[in-house]
Amino acid sequence: MQIINTIAQLQEELSHARNAGKKIGLVPTMGALHDGHASLVRRSVSENDVTVVSIFLNPTQFNDPKDLERYPRTLDNDYKILDQCGAQIAFAPSVVEIYPEPDTRRFSYPPTDTVMEGERRPGHFNGVCQIVSKLFRITNPDRAYFGEKDFQQIAVIRRMVQDLGFKIEIIPCPVIREESGLAMSSRNTLLSAEERIIAANIYRILKESKTQGLTLKETEQWVISQINAIEGLEVEYYSIVDGKTLSEVHDWTDSDDIVGCITVYCGKTPIRLIDHIRYK
Ligand code: PAF
Repeated sequence: MQIINTIAQLQEELSHARNAGKKIGLVPTMGALHDGHASLVRRSVSENDVTVVSIFLNPTQFNDPKDLERYPRTLDNDYKILDQCGAQIAFAPSVVEIYPEPDTRRFSYPPTDTVMEGERRPGHFNGVCQIVSKLFRITNPDRAYFGEKDFQQIAVIRRMVQDLGFKIEIIPCPVIREESGLAMSSRNTLLSAEERIIAANIYRILKESKTQGLTLKETEQWVISQINAIEGLEVEYYSIVDGKTLSEVHDWTDSDDIVGCITVYCGKTPIRLIDHIRYK
């Protein structure tokens, strides 16, 4: 696997591949790779001739500087994982390489970027669109792979792809879970062993909510009260929305694509965990 740090070198490599008629897959990451990322990389390797995995801890999408500061950084281990997964190129640029000047572009795709995470993390999706659009322009891939763990992010990126006319196929990949059911996330390493056990209740309760026979609004309330009853967990929001537009739904019959999205604070620090469940 090649490790590349500059845009010029990456584009040089990719132009050879493209001229040879090769398909390019891009897996954007912020590093601290785990089995969830590995599943995206393996999928890209199986569907493309060249897989580029970007490792870039994008400062513009962190609305909380403390969150950026404590985000895990495991570059050497990341390279090992990518090599084992068969990726051809790891692209790990510096902040100056990506942002030689401050990025002043503004993206707006309501309601996908204004509800839920958009409401609570001002500027977050703008930063995601800044970096993802730059990575798309730099690599010009045929396909780009994103984990469904960040369910809302995929909806925002789809709108951006449509808006900016990128000819890139967005491939959403299923959440990979620990044996306990906890959705894999780079932030899980910040949880203590005890907090990890507690955090597993989130997905257990989401799954149980499907079998309660409640109305949609009752289901939202039920999930919130069940999770808040567990010491060490506190729900920030639980919203049941249309799976494509992310607009609010009031009744199970309002859409044929309904997803519940949750954010929960876990433990003393506390660590902010997100997850979701599909109802239909
Ligand atoms: O999902 C992530 O890890 C990030 O938001 C992404 C897509 C790599 C952009 O920085």
